Amino acid sequence: MAESITITDNRTGNQLEIPIENGGVSAAEWQKLLPGIWFYDPGLVSTAVAESAITYLDGEEGILRYRGYPIEQLAEKSSYLEVAYLLLHGDLPTAEQFDEWRHEITYHTFIHENVRKRFLEGFHYDAHPMGMLVSAVAALSTFYLDAKDIFDVESRTKQVIRLIAKMPTLAAAAHRFSVGMPFVYPDNSLDFTANFLSMMWKVAEPRFDANPTLAHALDVLFILHADHEQNCSTTAMRVVGSSHADPYSACAAACAALYGPRHGGANEAVIRMLAEIGSIDEVPDFVRSVKEGTGGRLQGFGHRVYKSYDPRARIIKRTAEDVFAITGKNPMLDIALKLEDIALSDDYFISRKLYPNVDFYSGLIYQAMGFPLEMFPVLFAIPRTSGWLAHWLEMLDQDTKIVRPRQLYDGVDERPYVPIDDR
Ligand code: CMC
Repeated sequence: MAESITITDNRTGNQLEIPIENGGVSAAEWQKLLPGIWFYDPGLVSTAVAESAITYLDGEEGILRYRGYPIEQLAEKSSYLEVAYLLLHGDLPTAEQFDEWRHEITYHTFIHENVRKRFLEGFHYDAHPMGMLVSAVAALSTFYLDAKDIFDVESRTKQVIRLIAKMPTLAAAAHRFSVGMPFVYPDNSLDFTANFLSMMWKVAEPRFDANPTLAHALDVLFILHADHEQNCSTTAMRVVGSSHADPYSACAAACAALYGPRHGGANEAVIRMLAEIGSIDEVPDFVRSVKEGTGGRLQGFGHRVYKSYDPRARIIKRTAEDVFAITGKNPMLDIALKLEDIALSDDYFISRKLYPNVDFYSGLIYQAMGFPLEMFPVLFAIPRTSGWLAHWLEMLDQDTKIVRPRQLYDGVDERPYVPIDDR
């Protein structure tokens, strides 16, 4: 075979040649020679869990493409709703398809009154909006009982539309509740991002018209966050989806994975870090403490896959300029720029290939736009929902097995039970 590897079992001398396909070898093949010998790969660092045609990512070269389209072109020319269609359907929509798609999404933005009144308003007054979102998404499965019919194409399509459409409504509702403001109903005359901003910020005016530059900047951020192949939350979606749970339950699991500071919570951690540093003069000392291991990690730096500049970070840095021209410069920007400057010329970061990731600048934009820190992971979840669902649909179409990895047991050997008085 032209592209293959040969493994030899040195206990028996048996050999097996396995083809390399798409850069990987099939575990099912090597299991034929080595039944009961497991790959030990706790963070799935060297394991491809899926074949996927959705997103292409080259971490060495800093390339990101959705369905073949470079992220730079999509960020410049497309809209989040169009990108969501692209991720889910595989191709950009025609004008007619897009009109229908936009109409469907727009007319599914309302949430059942009981989701808000009985459920969301039952949370404690200072509940974290991401905790509320995780629970609210799971609760939707109790409102749409047809969601269990995951092999009914019509039902599947309906849940996909509902989830993408209702995510901004739930997100804004969680925020309004946490600040004691009344819920704002969706405005069907606005487009996706402007409608979200209206639900976030509207007070007493009959109609809230978001600043178009800010609405566009948020739309660009939504495009950049829409998918990122097999990341932690998408993997959670796939793992739960592989048990054939309904998409709301799987999506809630994905939201929960996104909540953590190593994933969707990183931009919040960046702002807290910049606030703690406090001034440009403190940056060298802070970088020293990171290198010595006493200052924690440099938040917003490093990535499991990107070993060069995250292409999303480059676009976000430019978007930040547009936003700051309207909102005024975020005073922490100078600290961030200095931090990047020092880190990119320091051997510790260079040798470990640590570059700014998508979260390094996104938090500064969100903060300048007035979003509280607690909303940052929620803002990530809104667009990532389309990526999660695209992977969920792809996985169902591939008829994959339930995800059930193995472990290497290193606990104690068999021992007899000892009654409590004899211990
Ligand atoms: N600051 C300082 N050192 C770091 C950092 C950092 N941010 N990230 C990695 N390192 C060091 C780490 O200490 C280790 O050094 P050594 O080899 O001496 O032990 C080396 O780099 C490799 O780190 P790792 O933990 O093995 O790398 P990983 O691929 O498991 O972790 C990561 C990836 C994103 C969790 C990590 O880089 C990190 O914690 N970054 C900060 C949090 C962050 O910005 N997360 C957002 C990721 S992008 C958004 C998303 O996709 O969700």
